[in-house]
Amino acid sequence: MTSSISDPATALPTWPDNPADISHWPEIARLWSQVGPPLRPAAEDLLPLIQGIAAWAGANGPPRALILGVTPELYRLPWPTGTHLMAIDRTRGMIDAVWPGPREAVICADWTAVPLPESSRDIVLCDGGVHLVAHPHGHLAFLSEMKRIVAPGGLCVFRLFAPTSAREEPDQVLSDFLGGAIPNLNILKLRLGMAMQESASEGVELGQVWRAIHHAARDFEQLAGRLGWPLEHLLAINSYRDSTARYHFLDPDTVCRLFCQAPGGFELVSFTTPTYLLGERCPTIVLQRRNR
Ligand SMILES: C[S@@+](CC[C@H](N)C(=O)[O-])C[C@H]1O[C@@H](n2cnc3c(N)ncnc32)[C@H](O)[C@@H]1O
Repeated sequence: MTSSISDPATALPTWPDNPADISHWPEIARLWSQVGPPLRPAAEDLLPLIQGIAAWAGANGPPRALILGVTPELYRLPWPTGTHLMAIDRTRGMIDAVWPGPREAVICADWTAVPLPESSRDIVLCDGGVHLVAHPHGHLAFLSEMKRIVAPGGLCVFRLFAPTSAREEPDQVLSDFLGGAIPNLNILKLRLGMAMQESASEGVELGQVWRAIHHAARDFEQLAGRLGWPLEHLLAINSYRDSTARYHFLDPDTVCRLFCQAPGGFELVSFTTPTYLLGERCPTIVLQRRNR
């Protein structure tokens, strides 16, 4: 890694873990090796980030950067020397198990109440996190915090998990799954979660996704054998079991409207769609903070 991380935030307050995460993200932390693209970023997703960071740093000097979440691939980007890099995540279990950087560079807090000063960040990155915030009130609070902490001219770079306009039927996804047409759990989680969501405000409860899969195939061991999946990989879906956490998938237009029009405060700089399977639902958007 070529980055040099200076002056980590040492005296920042910490928040208790959010109760909604108790049955989900700590489990994900334990099962992190089973999570892969598109739920984790692929090399193709990192390229626009690397280019964007280099261009920003070329024009402005090393950035004050913030990662929303503890995604190791984002920590390991080739940050310019002198970058001040921090992360914010509300799940202590994820910080402890997944964050590869210095512990003092992470704040345990919620993205809708960020304990950082106004205009204190130049680049904010988030990989597959916007749908984890409730809609619409959580998203409005999230936007308001991004507007507050990102300095004028600064960037928000988000990889979204964003449904396309044609919603799939859950039964079709389950039938593809049982028929061997879905290559791994990462694809299944995304396709089924999006198919089961009736509206962004209602979102989809993870426990409900687990129950749909379990209803379709009660014997996971037999199914894993039939699909040719390692049993451990299929069983990673059990992190959804009994989880009351909800995902709130927003389509790209809604995200852009929120950030650029109402309430706004940002301009859309780029929208990149990767070429991998389901890539059309995993675009990376770059938003630039308008001058006040
Ligand atoms: C960045 S996201 C997505 C990671 C990966 N792309 C995936 O989908 O598995 C995951 C992290 O977000 C954190 N998180 C979710 N909602 C949050 C919120 N409102 N505030 C702070 N952290 C949050 C979780 O604790 C978790 O560590």
